[in-house]
Amino acid sequence: MKLTISDICFSYSKNGRQILQNVNCEFHEKSVTAILGPNGCGKTTLAKCINKINIPSSGDIHFGDRSINDLGRGEIAKIVGYVPQFSTARMVGTVMEFVMLGRRQYLGWGIKEEDIQAVADVLERLNISDLSDKNYNELSGGQKQKVLVARALMQDSEIYLFDEPTSNLDIKNELEIMELAKGIVDEHEKSVVMVVHDLNMALHYADYAVLMKAGKVISHGRTKDVMTEKSVKEVYGVKTRIEECGFVNPFV
Ligand SMILES: Nc1ncnc2c1ncn2[C@@H]1O[C@H](COP(=O)(O)OP(=O)(O)OP(=O)(O)O)[C@@H](O)[C@H]1O
Ligand SMILES: [Mg+2]
Repeated sequence: MKLTISDICFSYSKNGRQILQNVNCEFHEKSVTAILGPNGCGKTTLAKCINKINIPSSGDIHFGDRSINDLGRGEIAKIVGYVPQFSTARMVGTVMEFVMLGRRQYLGWGIKEEDIQAVADVLERLNISDLSDKNYNELSGGQKQKVLVARALMQDSEIYLFDEPTSNLDIKNELEIMELAKGIVDEHEKSVVMVVHDLNMALHYADYAVLMKAGKVISHGRTKDVMTEKSVKEVYGVKTRIEECGFVNPFV
């Protein structure tokens, strides 16, 4: 499902600073799109607008041809599987129970054998079956992050919106999540929108990129057209060189 952001503006308080300033971009169907930009430029704020946690003061957001204004939170949850950057979720219960919550809009009057199997399959896919009976509150940061991704996958959404899903993960787990994102698109024909900081992960895994700076979209399109030595210098103020393997920074 195509997601279109049209000229949205957003402030956290009524007469406060505009955090998003006339943001325009598209997220294409069946592709991975990376949202990139410096700390504090508005990536999470944009993600929360897409998820209808933040309501823009002007502009519109469309899922296919439906405006976000015509969709309730329940309907958005069926379209968008969101993994927040910081989850304050505290949950008394096991990982199995926590991940099952991702399926709540599909659960009828009770949990069936097929629901338990569906959770077990997702935990297996993420290589975290061993966490199934553990208490969610007692997991490490990285383990929690993978469980949050698992919970989002249970929503069987059209669009997966991951806000820095790999920030706590070691390189193996990071690659696993990036491969998973690619798999969601290739095998299941869904879309993935992912806030990432790693320029090379974006270059390698994202079909499209949205590059932000200070509340504005500086450039969006095919990742290799957006992420250039020039745009990285302009947005981050850092000189890099692109080689066959990706961006190389001045320290290398
Ligand atoms: N709840 C809030 N209330 C007021 N201001 C906020 C709130 N959340 C974020 N901001 C401000 O909005 C701006 C953008 O924040 P946002 O979290 O969207 O940045 P980001 O691009 O996701 O950064 P990072 O890469 O560090 O996660 C920042 O200046 C931040 O201080
Ligand atoms: Mg953020």
